[in-house]
Amino acid sequence: MNRLIIKNASELVTCSGKSPRHGTEMSDIGIIHDGCVVAEDGIITDVGTTEEILKNYDLSTCEVVDARNRAVLPGFVDSHTHLIFGGYRADEFSWRLKGDSYMSIMERGGGITSSVRATRNTTLDEFIETGKKRLDKMLDMGVTTVEGKSGYGLDLETEVRQLQAMKKLDEIHAVDVVPTFLGPHSVLPEYKGKEDEFIDFMISVLGEVSGSKLAEFADIFCEKNVFSVEQSRKFLTAAQNAGLKLKIHADEMVQLGGTELAVELSCVSADHLLQSSDKGIEMLSKSDTIATLLPATAFCLREEYARGRQMIDAGCAVALATDFNPGSCFTNSIPLVIALAAIHMRLSIEEIITALTINAAAAVGRQETIGSIEKGKKADIIVLEYPSINFLPYHAAVNIVETVIKNGKIVKGK
Ligand code: NIG
Ligand code: FE
Repeated sequence: MNRLIIKNASELVTCSGKSPRHGTEMSDIGIIHDGCVVAEDGIITDVGTTEEILKNYDLSTCEVVDARNRAVLPGFVDSHTHLIFGGYRADEFSWRLKGDSYMSIMERGGGITSSVRATRNTTLDEFIETGKKRLDKMLDMGVTTVEGKSGYGLDLETEVRQLQAMKKLDEIHAVDVVPTFLGPHSVLPEYKGKEDEFIDFMISVLGEVSGSKLAEFADIFCEKNVFSVEQSRKFLTAAQNAGLKLKIHADEMVQLGGTELAVELSCVSADHLLQSSDKGIEMLSKSDTIATLLPATAFCLREEYARGRQMIDAGCAVALATDFNPGSCFTNSIPLVIALAAIHMRLSIEEIITALTINAAAAVGRQETIGSIEKGKKADIIVLEYPSINFLPYHAAVNIVETVIKNGKIVKGK
């Protein structure tokens, strides 16, 4: 048996207890001062103060991490990314800096359509090779589980290849990958005016991806000039019937009512939400649908941030994620997300940690196994190079994760 002990943590953030956490519950992150964690064969078996725990163990038989003057937290869960894609769109980014809008570039045949062309020309091995590098960077920033979406193939073959790449990466890389089928991500020029036909085609693909267990979630881009609320309802209902859990890109650019639809269909998460209505926020607050906010996207698009402060004050369960993708948000920086959530969305560091751990775990349907430091959960744990969680927003946009432990094994640092 492999036993790992992390001792002397100046702050041991457990996030133990209820999931998802709503509203004021998000501030309760269960800090133990001078904390200690024990993991056996990758599973957490004991949590408490260093004094009380060390009485029961012979340290000479354990691997020991001394976290003196360091804060210890659950591994981060990046619950919304598009990490498998071909090509890049640096040119579009420079056009946007000069004033072009994301939607106008998309309507001219750029945007997602441009990534689709490049992705269709990318092999499985190439996806895996670049995917590994991207996951390495995420792991370095303390991410131990990541959700990844297809959606740059928009045909059966390429969508399946993206999902196969995620499956392979999940097997070979320390970071766990949760796969989402995002077939209805964009309307290609040949489908303009035939969106209903495209939705029917994507519904026909659902059986394939759920039957072969290539996807756990289904997602759709519900947006003006992309897919309507009715089309989204039709696709997501079919996905649910095919056994997939649901996510939705909702109310990002235009207030369409995607937030309300997410609650109506009991989606696990509703994501983006920059333009959610007051009614949508109220409905979310009374539901277990997680509001997944992506401040790095708003930052890169120079949009207003989602009303995160108001959502938490209304009682919503909020998660934060990067939205890493080749277009609207080419960054997988967790430190940037933390800085933006603290400075621009006015979330407290406790709320931010909840949003990146236990609520994010709920947003990928894994709250029973990850997202907190408590007995029976996976030993996915990070150690910061500073003594307090207050350094996370204070050392703005800098990675301060010193050690990463995945399934009880040290995969970064010492
Ligand atoms: O979550 N909003 C739609 N989808 C992605 C962007 C995809 C892209 O631009 O390539 C998002 O922001
Ligand atoms: Fe996205």
